[in-house]
Amino acid sequence: MNHAPSKKNKVPLRKFTRTLLCSAWLTALVLTVCTPQIKAQTDPPSIQYEATSREFRIEAADTSYIFGINDDRQLQTLYWGKRLGTADHLARPKPLSGSGFDVSTSLTPQEFVAWGAGLVTEPDLKVSFPDGNRDLVLKYVSHQIEGNTLSVEMKDISREVYVTLEYQADAETGILRRCATIENRTDASITIEQVAAGTWNLPNEGDYRLRYLAGSWAAEWNVQVQPIHPGKTVLESRRGTTGAQNNPWFAIDRDGDTEENGNVWFGALGWSGSWEISVEQDAAQRVRVTGGPNAFEFGYLLSKGAKFTTPYFYGGYSDHGIGGASRLMHRYEIDSIVPHHPTPKLRPVLYNSWEATGFDVTEANQMTLAEKAASIGVERFVMDDGWFGQRKNDRAGLGDWYVNPQKFPNGLGPLIAKVHSLGMDFGLWVEPEMVNPDSDLYRKHPDWVLYFSGRPHTEGRNQLVLNLARPDVRAYVYSFLDKLLSENDISFLKWDYNRNWSEPGWPSVSPNQEKNVYVDFIRNFYSILAELRQKHPNVEIESCSGGGSRVDLGVMQYTDEVWPSDNTDAFDRLSIQNGFTYAYTPGVMMAWVTDSPTWVNNRSLSLEYRFLSSMQGSLGIGANLTKWTPEDFTKAKQMVDEYKSIRETVQRGELYRLISPEHNSAQSVTETASPDGKQIVAFAFLHSSTEYHPYPRLYLRGMNEKAIYSISAFAGKLDGDTPTRASGAYWMHHGLDLDLRGDFQAAAFTLNRVN
Ligand code: GLA
Repeated sequence: MNHAPSKKNKVPLRKFTRTLLCSAWLTALVLTVCTPQIKAQTDPPSIQYEATSREFRIEAADTSYIFGINDDRQLQTLYWGKRLGTADHLARPKPLSGSGFDVSTSLTPQEFVAWGAGLVTEPDLKVSFPDGNRDLVLKYVSHQIEGNTLSVEMKDISREVYVTLEYQADAETGILRRCATIENRTDASITIEQVAAGTWNLPNEGDYRLRYLAGSWAAEWNVQVQPIHPGKTVLESRRGTTGAQNNPWFAIDRDGDTEENGNVWFGALGWSGSWEISVEQDAAQRVRVTGGPNAFEFGYLLSKGAKFTTPYFYGGYSDHGIGGASRLMHRYEIDSIVPHHPTPKLRPVLYNSWEATGFDVTEANQMTLAEKAASIGVERFVMDDGWFGQRKNDRAGLGDWYVNPQKFPNGLGPLIAKVHSLGMDFGLWVEPEMVNPDSDLYRKHPDWVLYFSGRPHTEGRNQLVLNLARPDVRAYVYSFLDKLLSENDISFLKWDYNRNWSEPGWPSVSPNQEKNVYVDFIRNFYSILAELRQKHPNVEIESCSGGGSRVDLGVMQYTDEVWPSDNTDAFDRLSIQNGFTYAYTPGVMMAWVTDSPTWVNNRSLSLEYRFLSSMQGSLGIGANLTKWTPEDFTKAKQMVDEYKSIRETVQRGELYRLISPEHNSAQSVTETASPDGKQIVAFAFLHSSTEYHPYPRLYLRGMNEKAIYSISAFAGKLDGDTPTRASGAYWMHHGLDLDLRGDFQAAAFTLNRVN
């Protein structure tokens, strides 16, 4: 169905709806609109097109998103926020009038604007034509509604360049997923110099604050908050990969709103290459957020007849503060992003060898660790780096994916059999996109890496990046992984990526096509993951990148879990994990219990504290179990058992950050309510007591006021006056006290509904 709106069709909305019943094509429209994937008892998402005011309304869950076609035939954003009444009419979209300095194109809030006609704000698209023309002006052409997808087509005023915007709403969260497809119907190649999935325009009045995530290796996920002022803040990666310096996520609140109250607009990009989200307050004081691949160094050659589809840019709205925004993201990720959504498997408790044996893995030491891991209830044993090629340290072996015969004389078979006999499944570390210059692969194929001819190769961790955009490299990477998984009973890959790009040249293609590497590399990365998953459907994959440098909604479509940070210090992890949960669900957040004092900062913490910190995500153990005492094993077994009884709540529930470490360096408290509301789990940490101050009273959330819950602490102590059972109203409004004093103390408790 492709409908251009007719100016003659001036039917008011109500009448329009009634007319619909007797119109053949409109009846079809209604049928398709009403068959979305409805996941909950909420209003179904509806995409309505109103002919009189040329308005597109996307309404789902608690959110309305409305844009229209203005008199200049631009797509003008009209509203994004709390759901409006269906009969509410918005004013007809009018382009803003400009001046000599800021023309109307720059001021009018548009869904997708190309660089041309004097635009000075961030463009969604910039192209160059072979004749030197670089001006592009897009106007509405037609639209189409299929299922719950709205597609709107635009075209340049004179050249055969088409752009189709695609929107999909999620019924349960109201989160919108959007992308743009650029089609070159001219008779020559054009170069896309910059492209975004689209622009989110915020309501025009407001004292807005931007929240984003920043960090570096072993210090990822720091929450940054800053007022939005005239000008531009660019969150980005120029690294060829997602990176930890910024994560492709943003949240904007209005008027100083808080954790659980107020308006928050948020979004995330699904792209694991260089990316960019620009948050701009323009000359009309409006805030707009544009996101896509990074414009720096971008230059995609789009041949005649070809199409280019951008990554997805997701956006949502909550009027329950940043806490509500996070919970919508978590729900959406579980329901719509991760493999096997909406019912992904719970994360097993895993053991990983890295911090115990480093590169010195052998059949014997891994078997010893496996026996000890099994004794505390571990379900998956993962051998990390060091098992392949001549990998004795990080200077050699990457690229040579054969089992090291000195370390494993009979291959991986005996170790895998042992792990299985202990009741665990087996996982393995790989870093497929990398090569050490000291490797057989590099000696044979020095041209397989990213490089500029005749220029030095900058190494990172003694390794170079393979050019995965090359078909032969893609084939090599896929085939060694496929062989590894076909010949061994492997259930899990930890897929690592330990450096940024440098000298991103691709000398074997024509110079005007070289920059396609920024896109083709990532597409091949995704397609390898997809193909492997299809051929080996029982294999799960973790995305790791020297810690949390490759966590985004793009890679999460293909990976069951992610590694947030190499920093496994249980106290540092409280703030790292806190930041992570702003954007991503604890259901995919791996967290290991490691040795104390930790290599990160030499801090010593009790084993119980370390467990409680990790139990807020997907629990793993990364300690050297050969050094543990019998008491450590007893404590660990108790905590692993406890974790198994609460993990469904922790991994799938509604998270409330009762006390965020970023607001208060003395305490940190998380609470999670199970999806069915029957179990509440809370973890509380104390950095250091000061003076005579008691631990703050905790006011729980997400409970049924009238229901009765019994409380029980599985670590630390509740205050002696705490009742053993009380109503949801009591726990939420009266609150409860913990008996936590001293340094680095922790407590954890559950409440179970009894009626
Ligand atoms: C990266 C990962 C670690 C470990 C090492 C192995 O740093 O983040 O967890 O796997 O590589 O070399």
